[in-house]
Amino acid sequence: MDLGLENKVAIVTGAARGIGAATARRLAAEGASVVIADINGEGAAATAAAMQADGLKAHAVAGDITVAADVDRLMAETLERFGGVHILVNNAGFPRDGRLTKLTETDWDLVVDVILKGAFLASKAVMPHMIEQRWGRIVNISSRAHLGNPGQANYSAAKAGIIGLTRALSLEEGRYEITVNAVAPGFIETEMVQELPHYAQIKERVVRGTPIPRVGRPDDIADAVAFLASERAGFISGETLHVTGGRYAS
Ligand code: NAI
Repeated sequence: MDLGLENKVAIVTGAARGIGAATARRLAAEGASVVIADINGEGAAATAAAMQADGLKAHAVAGDITVAADVDRLMAETLERFGGVHILVNNAGFPRDGRLTKLTETDWDLVVDVILKGAFLASKAVMPHMIEQRWGRIVNISSRAHLGNPGQANYSAAKAGIIGLTRALSLEEGRYEITVNAVAPGFIETEMVQELPHYAQIKERVVRGTPIPRVGRPDDIADAVAFLASERAGFISGETLHVTGGRYAS
């Protein structure tokens, strides 16, 4: 299937590593020019350089997605380097876990800001360009945790919130051929989850409870995002695609 991504420009936030890096690579392999946006400037530069070494079109921009001035610079550099923007993947995010009684205000603010404010600022920055060209794709990375996970009140709330953002924007901008969808991954083996305390036990428990008995890979998410970002998904909007090995239904 030709995804029609040749000559498209994509911004992927949090793309220095993990799901974001796999998604950036997948979009670029389909012919897109991809901006690797990440607060980890060194990691972003390394990811972009590795892609360029493989003949892919990539450019790194360092910045904090929760800071409006950084997002403005991200947009300016994207336009200067690649001349437009067609696709935005709001992927930057992280958990700060703890039961509510232990959760600090800082844990709450950090998680809600990176997931919700980051997606808000980036979407607001790209939207005028998408409206003007009458074509756009926004894919927001939610999580199966939007259903509610104990010890993740902040993360679950933010990942549910991003589904609300997805639906609202899909209703606002559909008339301009702009689609807005979410992907809700299950347990995906990235450095983020490998850093969790009790990682081995969590992994074993997850695999036992997953109909397709393995953990997810970043490429599982990259493939879903690439489809939703493509020409082929032009009549799909406001949806949340669960990529959980069947665990969503179990
Ligand atoms: P990761 O930690 O490997 O990558 C996240 C990237 O976001 C990092 O490169 C980090 O530097 C960047 N980042 C963090 N704060 C930022 C900020 N303020 N501005 C710009 N960049 C920032 O994480 P992973 O596992 O690849 O997760 C990616 C997304 O997928 C996150 O939104 C996460 O919540 C979501 N997700 C991950 C799952 C998993 O099992 N790994 C499951 C469900 C959702």
